[in-house]
Amino acid sequence: MSTKDADQSLITTDVQTGSRDRTDRTHETVVKARNLDVYYGDEQAISGVSMDIPEHEVTAIIGPSGCGKSTFLRSINRMNDQIDVCRVEGDLSFHGKNVYDEDVDPVALRRKVGQVFQKPNPFPKSIYDNVAYGLRIQGKADEVDLDDAVERALRGAALWDEVKDKLDSSGLDLSGGQQQRLCIARAIAPDPEVILMDEPTSALDPVAASKIEDLIDELVEEYTVIIVTHNMQQAARISDQTAVFLTGGELVEFDETATIFEDPDDDRVEDYITGKFG
Ligand SMILES: Nc1ncnc2c1ncn2[C@@H]1O[C@H](COP(=O)(O)OP(=O)(O)O)[C@@H](O)[C@H]1O
Ligand SMILES: [Mg+2]
Repeated sequence: MSTKDADQSLITTDVQTGSRDRTDRTHETVVKARNLDVYYGDEQAISGVSMDIPEHEVTAIIGPSGCGKSTFLRSINRMNDQIDVCRVEGDLSFHGKNVYDEDVDPVALRRKVGQVFQKPNPFPKSIYDNVAYGLRIQGKADEVDLDDAVERALRGAALWDEVKDKLDSSGLDLSGGQQQRLCIARAIAPDPEVILMDEPTSALDPVAASKIEDLIDELVEEYTVIIVTHNMQQAARISDQTAVFLTGGELVEFDETATIFEDPDDDRVEDYITGKFG
């Protein structure tokens, strides 16, 4: 049994409300940072960050603009590799394996750690092809029933009912909120373990944003969600724990979300949350 299955089996569901009881579960670390530094040329964007991110929970990352939230997220699935001047020092591990070890294939890593961006970015292709894309480039299209996999991903992204009769139409013809759910379907189709989301609702209207928030609550049943948001109410609503980064790329506090918002240790966190700066 994989650790994923083991952890799944510990999920208890409150039948009456349908809400999960997140207190009664183990919290195995899936992503672990130790003294992580990230530089762009001479500029340091992440400074000595250490953090254990637990499986099957929502971890929010908040902090003022430019404090390194996106950089941290991109260091988890090595999207920073694509930026020439970017340099990473320290440890960033996925299930105990340093993702910067020489024998790690970044493509294989990104199969396990998918990503959703701020602006919905469907490909100029059909809805079906958008979702099938990941499976096709991984050469898995022959191994799985593609129709079935596409339907499962669209259901998982709470989009199936809205698009099942028009799978051949362009992903770009959907509304913004539907496009973002399509991008989530595309991210989950290859069955990753972790989904990174960088301000996934900030380009959406409140109704569409709220659908994504509901969806995130469902996604953590199967995946680990790490979400950057500049919306503190959103972090408070949807996350289990919250990391607060401040200018200079320092992780100032990381704790249960209720603690961060109601009783933070660090005065700077309190000031940030109460809107004194940022
Ligand atoms: N591609 C890049 N090249 C050079 N500097 C960058 C790049 N991306 C981000 N930075 C710098 O790194 C710091 C952190 O940026 P970022 O991670 O985007 O912050 P946030 O997501 O919290 O707004 C900023 O000072 C930013 O200017
Ligand atoms: Mg950012």
